[in-house]
Amino acid sequence: MAIDLTRPAKQVNIAAPEYAAFLAALQGNALKSHGRNESRHLFLKFTATPAQVRAWIRTRIAPRVLSAAAQRAQSAAGGDGGLVLLFYLSAEGYRYLGLDPSKLKSRIFNKGMKHHGSNLIAELFSTDNKDPKPGRWEAGFQKVIHAMVSLADDQAQDQTRLLNAVSLMQTELSGVADILLIDKGRALRRTVRDGTPLASPEPVEHFGYFDGISQPLFTREDLDRYRLDRKGDPDTGWDPGASLDLLVEKDPFTTATDAYGSYLVYRKLHQDFGQFHAREDAAAAAAGLPDELGGALTVGRFEDGTPAVVSSTAGHAYTNDFVYKSPDPAKSLDPDGLRCPAHAHIRKVNPRGTTPRTSFEDERRRRITRRGIPYGKPMPGICDATEIDPNPAADRGLLFMCYQANIEKQFEFIQRTWVDNPNFPTNVLNLPTGQDTGDDPLIGQDKAEPQRWPRKWGDAAAGRVKFNFEAAVTLKGGEYFFAPSLPFLAAL
Ligand code: HEM
Repeated sequence: MAIDLTRPAKQVNIAAPEYAAFLAALQGNALKSHGRNESRHLFLKFTATPAQVRAWIRTRIAPRVLSAAAQRAQSAAGGDGGLVLLFYLSAEGYRYLGLDPSKLKSRIFNKGMKHHGSNLIAELFSTDNKDPKPGRWEAGFQKVIHAMVSLADDQAQDQTRLLNAVSLMQTELSGVADILLIDKGRALRRTVRDGTPLASPEPVEHFGYFDGISQPLFTREDLDRYRLDRKGDPDTGWDPGASLDLLVEKDPFTTATDAYGSYLVYRKLHQDFGQFHAREDAAAAAAGLPDELGGALTVGRFEDGTPAVVSSTAGHAYTNDFVYKSPDPAKSLDPDGLRCPAHAHIRKVNPRGTTPRTSFEDERRRRITRRGIPYGKPMPGICDATEIDPNPAADRGLLFMCYQANIEKQFEFIQRTWVDNPNFPTNVLNLPTGQDTGDDPLIGQDKAEPQRWPRKWGDAAAGRVKFNFEAAVTLKGGEYFFAPSLPFLAAL
């Protein structure tokens, strides 16, 4: 029986038999992160005949792909779940195999990331594409990409199993596909922050901020766990629950029941550590604020995860239970962006009620499911890593990945209409259009857009100062993929 994708998460009992076919057909990592520490992402251009590539996918890939059902069984069993293999196709990949990618609904997926060009961006979003042009991307990303294989494992210290799997894959691919590039991901964790041991390890990104806190949750069991972890935070109006139609689309290339896939946006984002911390301090100095608050007004959270909307200093819990502007005025913490400015990263990408002329529910339908992992060696002092690089300009960053049901309505809308749009949201600061907000200082791709920084936390009377954060995060390449269902892969 076909499942109902529109059910709210609190009604999704994923353990019930009605979800068995769905879980068996869906690839792992979308519904829930597989959580492995170490990953390799192999970008492929097929070279064998389409029939040979189909046979390779059917016989060598399909049996090894981790399903959502197998991932659940691994988590229930506990311990080391073992090696993970996931497989994705681009629109060019589908075409190579003789399949028409326009059967998938996303127009932008069909064009591919380097070919979407400013015309489609302008047509869909009425804005420019501010990303660096593909001619400036890493060489491998400039070529036609047909597919991506992700391999991941938990053995951060001894990587023998993962490295063996990668070299086996390289051997197998000879005569099937060229490997255009291999990205190496490694999770960063800290067990000590500012000299103080932590009760549990924190995942961090390269600039030193606690990451991976706020995610949409799709099942009742995940919501129950979230409530347990919340440690008694008051209910302030934020519901992390999301229906499955924000995550999956029916796989059009199979007739199997409840066979779904999910779009994966992959963006390799270079993080310039020296530039970020210099601009963070300069922003604080321009506004006359403590350095630490300058950082919090950039990201929207302090390095320890404390949301800027909750406190002007670090040291509070990393709560996720807040809305900036609620239909219930008693729950509106900061409708005018006086504590957490409207430009702050987490407010740009999830405005929690601040979008003008849009209902709270419609705004929430933009949410994406993030599954990124850092790449490159961290600076000293950021986390527990043994391999570090003290050069602040070294190549390090985030292999940003997110799953969604619709690229135009979710990732691309967020990046074009919110992040890179200096006028979003227009009504928050009560300034004339064209003079407000600025772009997202953390991930905006336009160096020319200044933000308005508050001179005092929570105080409208103190005014704001115009300061351009410029950009410390740069796109180095990427692609749009679809994670096809297992029945499709097995029948190719
Ligand atoms: C190098 C690039 C990036 C860095 C360093 C970064 C860092 C962070 C940090 C520290 C948080 C707060 C922790 C959390 O709530 O999980 C966060 C949240 C978030 N980021 Fe990013 N991020 C980056 C790129 C992106 C991109 C490209 C997008 C999408 C366009 C994005 C979307 C989000 C979303 C949706 C949240 C959760 C916001 C919320 O629900 O409150 N991030 N990011």
